[in-house]
Amino acid sequence: MNSLKVLGLSFVLCAAISCKDNQEENKTSSEATEAVENKLTKSISEEKIDSVTQLAANQYLSMAGKIVEGEYPKTFYPKKEEFEASNSGWWTSGFYPGTLLYLYEETGKDTLKQEAERILAHLEREAKNTSTHDLGFMMYCSFGNANRIDPKPEYNDILMESAKSLATRYNDTVKAIRSWDSAPWNKAEKGDLVVIIDNMMNLELLFWAADHSGNERYREIAINHANTTMKNHFRDDYSTYHELIYDEQTGEAKSKITAQGFADESSWARGQAWGLYGYTLMYRETKDQKYLDQAKNIAKFILEHPNMPEDMVPYWDFDAEDIPDDLRDSSAAAVIASALLELYKYTDDENYFNAAEKMLSSLMSDEYLAKQNELGGFLLKHGVGSKPANSEVDVPLTYGDYYFVEALKRYEEL
Ligand code: GLY
Repeated sequence: MNSLKVLGLSFVLCAAISCKDNQEENKTSSEATEAVENKLTKSISEEKIDSVTQLAANQYLSMAGKIVEGEYPKTFYPKKEEFEASNSGWWTSGFYPGTLLYLYEETGKDTLKQEAERILAHLEREAKNTSTHDLGFMMYCSFGNANRIDPKPEYNDILMESAKSLATRYNDTVKAIRSWDSAPWNKAEKGDLVVIIDNMMNLELLFWAADHSGNERYREIAINHANTTMKNHFRDDYSTYHELIYDEQTGEAKSKITAQGFADESSWARGQAWGLYGYTLMYRETKDQKYLDQAKNIAKFILEHPNMPEDMVPYWDFDAEDIPDDLRDSSAAAVIASALLELYKYTDDENYFNAAEKMLSSLMSDEYLAKQNELGGFLLKHGVGSKPANSEVDVPLTYGDYYFVEALKRYEEL
């Protein structure tokens, strides 16, 4: 137990995923929670989680020494010993401060919070960015966590401004938020609107804004986007395409592609992960049964897939051509594990807990987890950014680390 963890039972309870999650859950599924508390047997010890968390904190503090003003860690190329960072406008900029904040909560090390605040002061400029749909990733994983831990009026203003910027990308004919301004391989024409499954992750920011402004339009946009995605993105087996291309004048879904996966009809692993996480959070925010059913169906597709390996760390695409010799994507495993731990709370289905536990055990093994001072301070080896673009292949990824640390925290708090 660390200094923060003994601040009091109410703090500890509120620290689980978010205070709001818990309040909602207490209101709506106390029976399931009771059952969860009665039955749960964990096979990963508290000591193991604590030691991995300490390692993570030390790694991130070592990374802090490499980050100069205006830079945001993306990845590290072990063979070249090369660190790669982005500017604040890249979709992954919020994960580094977000990971620092989770680790601060878990360890109580002030230096982690100070480093997060140093980064946030620069990231603030993205609140007015209307050229990306990724503001949820960028601003909610960073300022959302900062505000949850230590609420401040300036964080509130930044989050509200970010939600306002994100909402400018909503199209009321398609009833979805525009993800990209163009599609790869010139597949979209002028007048098209491209939506990627990843966009489900940006909806959390809109729910926050609705709850904290009283402006229900934000909730309406998030719900419409989720409904449109649920209708068009998924195949009969609940696997998802990556991109949908809509005609923005008529709302018609013109084509369905998978640019970041192996093929248009394949199931890109991280896309399935974003879908699972996205509909689990939709249930958290709305308590609408149809989103829970959707999350369960996506989980079934993932967990029962014949190409899911024994260690439960998926191949980068469930249909990748060189399975069983193809690359794994540790980031997909981290996102799926975190989502399953939340889904377990709403369903009391131990299969979700057991699968998440297996994924976490694998990610904590030497095969995936960096040792102290390895990997430029990152945590998880074997992430795949975009194989088709030959970008960030078999490397650590800032978002893999973020969802891994979130999953560890969720596991510990169950
Ligand atoms: N949002 C892009 C990705 O998952 O790689």
